[in-house]
Amino acid sequence: MTSAPPLTKPVDVADPRAQAAVRIDGIDKVFPLGRGKDLRALGTVDLEVAEGEFVAIIGPSGCGKSTVLRMMAGLETPSSGSVEIFGDDPHRLAKQHRLGVAFQEHALLPWASVRGNIALPFKVAGRPLDAERVDGLIDLVGLSGFEKARPKQLSGGMRQRASIARALALSPDLLLLDEPFGALDAVTRRRMNAELARIWAEERITTVLVTHDVDEALILADRVVVMTGRPGQVRTIRDVDFPRPRGADVTRSPEFHDLVDELTALLVEAE
Ligand SMILES: Nc1ncnc2c1ncn2[C@@H]1O[C@H](COP(=O)(O)OP(=O)(O)OP(=O)(O)O)[C@@H](O)[C@H]1O
Ligand SMILES: [Mg+2]
Repeated sequence: MTSAPPLTKPVDVADPRAQAAVRIDGIDKVFPLGRGKDLRALGTVDLEVAEGEFVAIIGPSGCGKSTVLRMMAGLETPSSGSVEIFGDDPHRLAKQHRLGVAFQEHALLPWASVRGNIALPFKVAGRPLDAERVDGLIDLVGLSGFEKARPKQLSGGMRQRASIARALALSPDLLLLDEPFGALDAVTRRRMNAELARIWAEERITTVLVTHDVDEALILADRVVVMTGRPGQVRTIRDVDFPRPRGADVTRSPEFHDLVDELTALLVEAE
């Protein structure tokens, strides 16, 4: 694997001249459960993500991580507060195919090939197929030689790579990943983490990743958002300053382990 060049710091969102990629302002979410009962999924959440930044969200099960991500994807609307993506409404950006989304269930078309699946967004968006882009993505996610394979002929890790390639197909402005590697074994998961880190270093797309895996968050992110239990709120946001690429020298360091312990303790506390 080629090592990525050292990365510059993301833009400072506190700088009013810098445009935030994601600006979440005081959102909460109440789901009606029928018979006059409600479920309060989120407390008040504020979060900004700078352009080019990689942010990971961790938190106990059911705390509203997917709900927050779905709001960024324009798939869910906050009960109050606002979500802006590059200063715009997420629904509108979703319609313009400027958001790339990959969730735990890979949702590839079973009857289509790897190439067909990765090319699908062009068809959905009614755009002419950019075959060069599709080939480049197949290469980027390491699926060269498997272009004609159907999803069921691929391993779980390969299917996730195809999903991520598909999410990247139209060069989205924002990549939203919800537990994309949740179903993979630990070794494959670490390999996928390294690949996603490499892809991010090459494409530099603003990325928000929801994960249960503290190591994964620390291997990939510039900042880790720790949420409290339901109704989910931001418990703390931790900067992650380890140099990239974050190989074994980083993950075996005492500093890395200290941060894993610190965030794990916060998660246990948040349950
Ligand atoms: N459409 C819905 N209708 C009613 N309740 C919902 C809906 N979507 C989510 N919820 C509830 O909102 C809460 C937050 O759900 P969400 O899926 O965002 O949690 P999560 O943090 O992603 O959990 P996990 O880590 O298990 O994936 C949960 O209690 C869930 O049951
Ligand atoms: Mg979830």
